[in-house]
Amino acid sequence: MDIWEGIEPYTPEKLRIAVIGIGHVGLPTALGLAELGWDVVGADEDAEKIRQLNEGRSPFFEPGLQTLLTRNLASGKFSATSDVASAIQAATVLFICVGTPQREDGEADLSQIEVIARLIAQHLNGYKLIVEKSTVPAVTSLWIKRTIMRFSSAQRRTETGEPNQMMSSPEVNQESPAPEFDVASNPEFLQEGKAVENFFRPDRIVLGVESARGQEILKAIYKPLKRPILVTGLTTAELIKHAANAFLSMKISYINMVSDICEAVGADVSMVALGLGLDPRIGPDFLSAGLGFGGYCFPKDLKAFIHLAEKHGVQGSLLREVERINHQRVERFLEKLHKALWIVQDKTIGIWGLSFKPNTDDIREAPSLKIVEALARDGARLRLYDPEAMQRMQQVFPEQPDKLTYCSSPYQACEGADAVLLLTEWDEFRTVDLQRVAKLMELPILLDGRNLFDPEEARRAGLECISMGRGIATPTDLESTAVTPPPDDGSEYAKAAWR
Ligand code: UGA
Repeated sequence: MDIWEGIEPYTPEKLRIAVIGIGHVGLPTALGLAELGWDVVGADEDAEKIRQLNEGRSPFFEPGLQTLLTRNLASGKFSATSDVASAIQAATVLFICVGTPQREDGEADLSQIEVIARLIAQHLNGYKLIVEKSTVPAVTSLWIKRTIMRFSSAQRRTETGEPNQMMSSPEVNQESPAPEFDVASNPEFLQEGKAVENFFRPDRIVLGVESARGQEILKAIYKPLKRPILVTGLTTAELIKHAANAFLSMKISYINMVSDICEAVGADVSMVALGLGLDPRIGPDFLSAGLGFGGYCFPKDLKAFIHLAEKHGVQGSLLREVERINHQRVERFLEKLHKALWIVQDKTIGIWGLSFKPNTDDIREAPSLKIVEALARDGARLRLYDPEAMQRMQQVFPEQPDKLTYCSSPYQACEGADAVLLLTEWDEFRTVDLQRVAKLMELPILLDGRNLFDPEEARRAGLECISMGRGIATPTDLESTAVTPPPDDGSEYAKAAWR
């Protein structure tokens, strides 16, 4: 069956797409759209990034991305340019994927979005649909609309020689003819490390639209994916993204708080999470206790959401607590290390995993940054290993003879170590030979910050395994006396509990 059937008049021949801002959101989006058959130009003012892309090299590691880049450059469905203005002119649909970093006060810095909106205003050469995809606070799409109207009418007045008075309010001068464009909000839910997979199989596609035309175009663009589409207003779509990220952060901090209780009373947080997650009202995802959340999204988006709430008189205390719990994770982890080693100075410590999560080379807001900094300050000798993120880490913490060494394997990282710390749950670490690890170490102590290893198995391999939220029950704990397996009746509970 022809996948384009029924989407006339919006076919790839008639609708060119520009993706502005080619980062962790923009590049998977641009290449995913190209793979679906659309003609896509990726635009970014970073000329070095564009040069790499045109040479066929992905500027960052993301599973599946390099293959998509090679294929779509070769087919001509994707091209990259640092001439953002020409990309705007050449396309009908403009996805804005530029960064929205965090300001000191927690508010999102939207200056890059404003720059793009002004540029679009200068290059409105026919109907355009401007789609906001960066994570932004509510009403940003409306501001984009106002900015474009404001600057495009100023541009027209300049061209016709009329006096050019900029309006001080966001309200638009009703007398000048409105330029042809619509604004939409299409928040992304891509996870780093799974961005390509997420693009092709999203749980939902949220379209915040203000016109039937905008809605039809976006529906046509995503039609080949055959995934559920939710159509809302602009501001509601923006809120969905913010609320989703804040909720997921809250789930993580919740399980981390439960994890601390588990340690105190001698319970196992992994089993508690399993038991919780079997309730379909709760669900099993995002209940992994450990070092907490990092990355470019959750910490920043949570702050921005709190800021938005409080700016509008809504209490942000629930989310502030989520943040506070998350900040404490690294401290608690380091306390465990200090308890295990007593003195850290001059001890050799192996570190497994530097990226903020597996399958990415991204180290932004990664727990490893704080941990390496604290241990280096305490005078430990560090041996670091990560499958993908070492190059980026070296830019922050350069190699220092005998103090900070980058290693070529997990085994090399634990040679002569007094402890090895697991900070990121890369698959590669799941299959390390723990007996070999124990033999290589000076003191066989494994601190598992992500509960990746089975502590019993690690112990059998000769390692003392300290994990997160897996308390050791004392003989007086009720739990340790009442472990009778339920009959294996094939139920979900029996399967989950006795796996
Ligand atoms: C997150 C969201 O999951 C995406 O839906 C969203 O599109 C993206 O932010 C964004 O706003 O751009 P991402 O930051 O790439 O994606 O990664 P996640 O998989 O959500 O993990 C975030 C952090 O939470 C990581 O540090 C991870 O280690 C931690 N985490 C995750 C836990 O500590 N426990 C869990 O159970 C799950």
